[in-house]
Amino acid sequence: MAKTTSKKPAKKSKVSPSFANTFYVTTPIYYPNDVPHIGHAYTTIAADILARWNKLLGKKVYFLTGTDEHGKKLQETAEKVGKKPKEFIDALIPEFKKDWERINAKYDHFIRTTDKQHEQVVQEMLQKSFDNGDIYLGEYEGLYCVGCEAYYTEKDLVDGCCPIHKKPVEKLKEKSYFFKLSKYKDKLLKLYKEHPEFILPKERANYVIASVKAGLPDLSISRTSFDWGIPLPFDKKHVCYVWFDALFNYYSGTQIKGKEEFWPANIHLIGKDILWFHVVYWPAFLMSVGLDLPKSVFAHGWWTVNGDKMSKSLGNVVKIDKLVGIAGVDSARYFLFRNTAFGQDGDFSETALIERHNNELANKLGNLVSRVSALAERYGLEKTSNSLLPKLAIKKIKSHYDNYEFDKALNEIFAFIDICNEYVQTNKPWETENKKVLYELADSIKAFTILISPIIPETAEKISKIFSFDLNIDQIEEPLKVSKIIKAPILFQKIEITKQTELKVPKKKIETKINKPAIPGIVSMAEMIKYDDFAKLDLRVGKIKSVADIDGADKLYNLSVDLGKTLGTKTILAGIKQYYKKEELKDKLIIVITNLEPRKMKGLESQGMLLAASNEEHTKVILISPSADIEVGSTVG
Ligand code: MSP
Repeated sequence: MAKTTSKKPAKKSKVSPSFANTFYVTTPIYYPNDVPHIGHAYTTIAADILARWNKLLGKKVYFLTGTDEHGKKLQETAEKVGKKPKEFIDALIPEFKKDWERINAKYDHFIRTTDKQHEQVVQEMLQKSFDNGDIYLGEYEGLYCVGCEAYYTEKDLVDGCCPIHKKPVEKLKEKSYFFKLSKYKDKLLKLYKEHPEFILPKERANYVIASVKAGLPDLSISRTSFDWGIPLPFDKKHVCYVWFDALFNYYSGTQIKGKEEFWPANIHLIGKDILWFHVVYWPAFLMSVGLDLPKSVFAHGWWTVNGDKMSKSLGNVVKIDKLVGIAGVDSARYFLFRNTAFGQDGDFSETALIERHNNELANKLGNLVSRVSALAERYGLEKTSNSLLPKLAIKKIKSHYDNYEFDKALNEIFAFIDICNEYVQTNKPWETENKKVLYELADSIKAFTILISPIIPETAEKISKIFSFDLNIDQIEEPLKVSKIIKAPILFQKIEITKQTELKVPKKKIETKINKPAIPGIVSMAEMIKYDDFAKLDLRVGKIKSVADIDGADKLYNLSVDLGKTLGTKTILAGIKQYYKKEELKDKLIIVITNLEPRKMKGLESQGMLLAASNEEHTKVILISPSADIEVGSTVG
C-alpha cells in the first residue's frame, strides 16, 4: 500500500500536477439493490467515452467502476428477502456487470466496498484521520434518511419528509464519532478559488461555495444502531459512515498491483445529486489523511423520461436492456450524448432516440459509408490529396472531448459528414466513376470515424475493417492506404416510428400530464400544448410549382413551392414519392409550415414542411380545393 503507510502525512493537500500521461476516470459506485437504469448508464458511458478518448490520445488509462455495498439500506433490503447482506448482493453483481457489457463499457476494474482490500484501506484511513486529531467521540441527535444514507436538518425537509425520497426521516440519537469538517472550511474555500477546475461544470461551484461559507458543521461518521459496515479500527462497536467508506473506493481502487501510479483521479464523474459529498466531504477527508486531491469532479444533470421523473411507481424506469433494445447500443450511446449537453438535465424519449438514429446515424453516417463503400467496390480508389479534410475541425473536436463537450464534438463531426454527403451529390461518382473523389471520401470517412469512435465504438470498428485503417489518432491525417473495398453491410437499419412507439409511454404518465380528467374510456394520445406554442407556427397556403426526383432518394420529392409575395418560393423535401406521381402534385394548393429550422437531407436543404395525413399504409398530402379560391401566401390558423 504505497502512500498510505507513510508515517507522517503531509500537512497540506494539493492537487497533483502529474496528469500528463495517465488518465484515471471513475463513476460513482452504485447501490446494487436496484438494477441499473439510464441514469446509471449515462455516467458509465461518459466514463467509457473518456477512457476510450484518452487511450486514443496514447495515454495510460484506468477506468474504475463498482458497487457501494454497505449501509442500513442494503441491510434492510436483504433482511426483507430473508438473506444475509453479502449473500444478497453477491447474487446481484453478475447482473450489474452484464448491463455494463450491454452498453459496451470497458472498465478496467470493478470495485466492491465489501472487498477485503478496500475494507482494509478504509480502516487505515480512519486510523490516520483519528491519529491526526480529526475524529472525536460525541453524541449525534438528528434526522436521517436511510434512502440517501444522509443526515438532514428540519429546514431541509419537505412536509417532514426527505426532499429526495419523499419518505419520513428517522430521528436518531446515538454515540457517534465525528469528523472535524468545520476545520476544513477555509482550506476548501481556498481549493475552490485556486482550482476552479475542481468543480465542473463551473456553474455548479457558486452554490457549493456559498453553502461552505455559510458554515460546515462537523460530520457524524460512525453508527452503532446497525452492523453492516466497516468497523472503526479504534472502536469496533461502531461501523463507519457509508459515505466515508464509499468515497475511499476511488483511492483503494488504485492501491492494487500496477495501479498505484493512477492516484489521484483526473476526473470523478457523478450525478448532480451527489456533488456535495464529492466536493466537500471527499477533499476534506483526503486533506485529513494527507493524500493528493483529484483534479476535477464533474456533476452531470438528471434524465427525465417523456418529461417525468423516473420512478418505479410511474413504471417509466428505462433499464439497460430497454435502452439498448430500441435501436442498438451505439444509437443509445449516441443519443444520450448528442441530445443533451453533458452537465445539463436531459429528457429521454424513445421517439427522439429513433429519430436521431434514423435521421443522423442511418441517413447521414450510414448512407455515406454504404454509398462510398459500394462505389469503391465497383470502381476502386485512387490515391490523391484529400480536399475535404481541412474542413474537419480536428482541433476543435479534440478540445471538445477534453472539455467534456461531447454534444459539440458530435455537432462538428456531423457538420463534416454533411459536407461529405454534399460532395457525393455534387461529384456524382456513380456517373463519373471518379476514383479520386471516392478516395477523398474514403479518407474522410477514416478521419471522422477515428474521432467518433469513443462514442460509437462498435460501428467505428466495423467501418475501420471495411476501409482497412486503424482506430488510432495518428491515422486521422495519415493518408488512407488503398485497399480492396467490399460494400459495407447496413450499419443502422432504419426504424419506423409507429403509433405503437408513442403508446409505449405508460398510461399513468399521460394522466399526470393532462390536468383535467380525461373523458372516461378515451386515452388521450396527444400532449396538450399552450395556445402560445401553437401561435408560433407560421402556416401558409402554397402552390406546388414543380416536382423533382432526388438522386439516391427513393422516398423524397424535391418540391418547389410558391408561398406568395412575402415569402417567395421555397424548397420543400417531402417523403411522399411512393404515394404520388409527379403530375398529381403539380399546381396543387397545399399547407406549409414555413418557419421550421431548415433541415439538410440528401445534401439539399428543406425550408419547410407540408401538412399531410398519415396512417399505417399511406400518407396523403392535405390539398386545398381550387374552388376554395384562397390566395397563395395566405396564413392558416
Ligand atoms: N452509492 C452512491 C454513490 C457513491 S460514490 C462514492 C449513489 N449510488 S446510486 O446508485 O444511488 O446513484 C448513482 C448515480 O446515479 C448518481 O450519480 C446519480 O446521480 C445517478 N442517477 C440516478 N438517477 C439518475 C437520473 N435519473 N439521471 C441521471 N443520473 C441519475 O448515489
